[in-house]
Amino acid sequence: MKVIFRLILLTFTLGIFACGQEKKIDTYVEQEVNDSHSFSNPRQISVSHVHLNLKVDFDNTKLEGTATLTLQHYKPADTLWLDTKGLDINFVTIDNQTEKINFFLGNEVIFKGKPLGIPVTATTKRVNINYKTTENSVALQWLNPAQTAGKDFPFLFTQSEANLARSWVPCQDNPGVRFTYSADITVPKNMLALMSAENPQKKNETGIYHFEMKEKIPAYLMALAVGNIEFLATGERTGVYSEPAMVHKAVVEFSEMDEMVKAAEALYGPYRWGRFDVIVLPPSFPFGGMENPKLTFLTPTLVVGDKSLTAVVAHELAHSWSGNLVTNATWNDFWLNEGFTVYIERRIVERLRGKDFADMQAVLGMQDLKETLEDLKKEPDQTKLKLNLENLDPDEGMTDVAYEKGYLFLRLIEETVGRQKFDQFLTNYFNENAFKSITTETFIHYLEINLLNDELGFKGKVNIDEWVYRAGIPANCPKINSDKFKTIESKVSMFMNGSKAVELNLQHASTNEWLHFLDMLPLKLNTAQMIDLDSAYQFTESGNAEILCKWLRKGIASNYAKTNEPLAYFLIHTGRRKFVKPLFVELAKTPEGLEKAKLIYAIAKPNYHSLLINTLDQILEKQVVKM
Ligand code: BES
Ligand code: ZN
Repeated sequence: MKVIFRLILLTFTLGIFACGQEKKIDTYVEQEVNDSHSFSNPRQISVSHVHLNLKVDFDNTKLEGTATLTLQHYKPADTLWLDTKGLDINFVTIDNQTEKINFFLGNEVIFKGKPLGIPVTATTKRVNINYKTTENSVALQWLNPAQTAGKDFPFLFTQSEANLARSWVPCQDNPGVRFTYSADITVPKNMLALMSAENPQKKNETGIYHFEMKEKIPAYLMALAVGNIEFLATGERTGVYSEPAMVHKAVVEFSEMDEMVKAAEALYGPYRWGRFDVIVLPPSFPFGGMENPKLTFLTPTLVVGDKSLTAVVAHELAHSWSGNLVTNATWNDFWLNEGFTVYIERRIVERLRGKDFADMQAVLGMQDLKETLEDLKKEPDQTKLKLNLENLDPDEGMTDVAYEKGYLFLRLIEETVGRQKFDQFLTNYFNENAFKSITTETFIHYLEINLLNDELGFKGKVNIDEWVYRAGIPANCPKINSDKFKTIESKVSMFMNGSKAVELNLQHASTNEWLHFLDMLPLKLNTAQMIDLDSAYQFTESGNAEILCKWLRKGIASNYAKTNEPLAYFLIHTGRRKFVKPLFVELAKTPEGLEKAKLIYAIAKPNYHSLLINTLDQILEKQVVKM
């Protein structure tokens, strides 16, 4: 047996050497982990560079052109397997050849799309895929002029995370596979194209824009935005892109970005991506932010006028270390991206805004986590840090658990070993794993060797296994407190014991304090209480979407007529899932509310991104079946 095995091994090794294909392999390849959400075969052949040559066709809402993929061969294979979803493949050629070759496009598989198989030999260096996107290209959101701030130009943006990159680029859409990319993007004259790459700062005459992304990234960090976009600098390395109607306000709101980058660098080492710019998108952008490298995508709901919501920018910046530099190898390891990022976000915010602010944010996060755990009572597996998303939509696993339980775990380690030691550990962790995709197990191994390895009993105090592999929140969870919030809690008690809203003296409360105030009040209040609060503090007119959203939810639960119209307006004009989803969930709790929800949804749906539509279809349909 042994001899045969050695012989096989020898032939194999010789075979690889004979073709001169022996290469240093990536961590993901070494780890032999599988991404159940991808059809790709990177351990045999992986894509090392993608070049896109695409035309943005607003008339037909299509991208059309060629993706040229450069290959690295690791093990003999006759087929390159790629991910696609909603793509029309026109033809495929190899290297510099003009002859069109046969390719295989498999059947649609739920949550994955269609595998694209391209026959290759050991010497194939490049494949050229000519394709166009379709209406099933779910990463793309095409907006007509009416859906933008300026109302004059259409707009396009992509959202590739988690596994939607495949719906606009045929690729190895697997977070364990990293590649560099370049692109030539043709857009209508008078419009600007931007990517998660080195970006232009103004429009050119030709409407053709060239992009280079020289750092290796996973597919979910590919991004494109096209519109009537302008740029204003906020500092040496940072700036804001947005439609002209928004850019001046945005540049004031985000004026601290250079400081944020410096704060993050002081904590965890150099920012490795050149510039840190942001683009403020139209309101249908489904997230608060998306950490597209070099160009974070942001919701316009952050532009409040008082810098109260800029922690989201700190969050996306933090991903430049956790997520973009050291990436989750599969979506089961999502907490490596988000838990670390929330931890770093709060450290950055603490430097800029002080400890009280960071403490308040941690308590608000804890409150969200408690609510999520309540919602997931019947799905305990979803409350583990290490997930098992096989046969599930990866989007399903992306709950507050990864964010806030992940944060608590890291905070526990920090409190156990001390901040200084933990900061040094994290800096080394980012440096040693830079531009790699790793699993939870690789992290744990690194943690055990480099931090929890001494005789002080740290390892026993932390209990890694329980935090990572078991449901719920372990008993050794760090205590999360905020002194500022104690005052707020006493005001809530006063109000519930009959004090008038004005007597609470809250006119100077900060956004965080308001959010906690609203969280601590019962969801359902009586009409007199709602009127009293509203006339004292004008919640219904709040220009802060975080505050307004919590208030509108109370309005639904409390049957408060005054919020009806603002609620409909808000749902039609905002597509940020964090706000829209809980409001529809609240509406759908009663038959009358559900009716209202359906009416509003019918009007709002054309403004929503497919990711949000997906979520809402489930909520509204589930309710129908139940009744
Ligand atoms: N990377 C996420 C957004 C995301 C997660 C997109 C999963 C698709 C799938 C981003 O960094 C994020 O976490 N955004 C948050 C803001 C943050 C401050 C918690 C959001 O959008 O609310
Ligand atoms: Zn994040």
